[in-house]
Amino acid sequence: MNYARIVGTGSYLPEKVVSNADLEQMIETTADWIIERTGVEERHVAAPGETTADMAEQAARRALEAAGLEPGDIDMIVLGTTTPDHVFPSVATVLQHRLGCYGGPAFDVQAVCTGFVYALDIANRFIRTGAARRVLVVGADTFTRIIDWTDRGTCILFGDGAGAVILEQTDQPGIIDSRLGADGRYKELLWVPAGVSSGYDRTRENAAFVEMRGSEVFKVAVTTLKDIAEQILSANQMTVADVDWMIPHQANRRILTATAKRLGLPMERMIDCVRTHANTSAASVPLALDVAVRDGRIQRGDTLLLEGFGGGFTWGAALLKY
Ligand SMILES: CC(C)(COP(=O)(O)OP(=O)(O)OC[C@H]1O[C@@H](n2cnc3c(N)ncnc32)[C@H](O)[C@@H]1OP(=O)(O)O)[C@@H](O)C(=O)NCCC(=O)NCCS
Repeated sequence: MNYARIVGTGSYLPEKVVSNADLEQMIETTADWIIERTGVEERHVAAPGETTADMAEQAARRALEAAGLEPGDIDMIVLGTTTPDHVFPSVATVLQHRLGCYGGPAFDVQAVCTGFVYALDIANRFIRTGAARRVLVVGADTFTRIIDWTDRGTCILFGDGAGAVILEQTDQPGIIDSRLGADGRYKELLWVPAGVSSGYDRTRENAAFVEMRGSEVFKVAVTTLKDIAEQILSANQMTVADVDWMIPHQANRRILTATAKRLGLPMERMIDCVRTHANTSAASVPLALDVAVRDGRIQRGDTLLLEGFGGGFTWGAALLKY
C-alpha cells in the first residue's frame, strides 16, 4: 500500500517586523489590547517587491535541503496561496522554473488560510494512487498586501510568510487520513469583495482589501476546528490522547486556547507561533510545523494533527505519523 510521508520541512519569514508598538502609531489601538484579544505581538511583512514566489522559493529550498533532495527529485508542486504574484501563471509554475524541475504538474490551490491543508490533501491523494512519488507542497502568502492598514479590526492579525514540506511515497504511514470541507454560505464574513471577473469597484473605499466580521468568524472557527479534529480522530479509532502535537491554523491565540479546551488537549501539546508569526494565511500551518521540527519538539514517529480554517469558509485536517 502506498502512503505519503513528510521527509523534509522548510519555512521563510520576511526580514521586516511590525510590532504592536508600531501599530499604535498607525491606528487607534494599544499593544495591550492586541495582545489580550489576539496573542499577536509582532508580524513579519514582505519587503517592497518581495513576492509570494520569492518566499515560497526560500521555504522550498530549505525543505529540499532538510530532505537531502535536489529539485530534480521533485515530480509535482502543489501550492496554496490567495496572493499570487500574477493573475496567471500560477505561483507553482513560477516556483518550478526557479527550482529548475520541469515537466511534472504544478498548480496553485486557493482555499485562503486552509490552502496548505488543501494542497497537502491533494498531494497525498496523488501519492496514494501512484500518480506521483515526490511532491513539493507549499503554503505561501503575502497577505499584508490585501490588508487595509487603517482598519484596526484586521491589520493587527495578519503577517506574511511561507512554509513547505516534501512528501515522499513510502509503504508505511505517513499521512493516515486527511479530510477537507467548505461552506460557501459564509462568504461575506471574511472576504475581499473584488476580483478579476467582478472587477475592482473603484467607487467603493477599500474594495480590494480584506473585510471581516471578526467575532462571527471567531465562533465558527472554534466550533469547526473542534468538530473536524473529533471527526478525523474517531474515523481512525483514535482520541486526543493519541495526538502528540496539534498544529492548527495560527489565526489567533484565543481561537487556539478555546479549541484546545473544547477538545481537552493540553496547550503544551499545541504548536503556537501566533505571538511572532500572526496569521500568515496558507503559510501558517507549515511554518508552525517547520519551527517545531527544527527546535526538536516534533520527533520522528510522533502523531500530528494539522488543521486549517479560512475564508469561504474552508477547512481541513490531516492526521499523520511524522
Ligand atoms: C478581530 C478580533 C480580534 C476582535 O476581537 P473581539 O473581542 O471580537 O472584538 P469586537 O470585534 O467585538 O470589538 C470589540 C471592540 O473593540 C474595538 N476594536 C476592534 N479592533 C480594535 C483594535 N485593534 N484596538 C482597539 N480596539 C479595537 C471594536 O471597535 C469594538 O469597539 P466597540 O465595542 O466600541 O464597537 C476577534 O474577533 C478575532 O480574532 N476574530 C477572529 C478573526 C480571525 O481569526 N480571522 C481569520 C480566520 S482564518
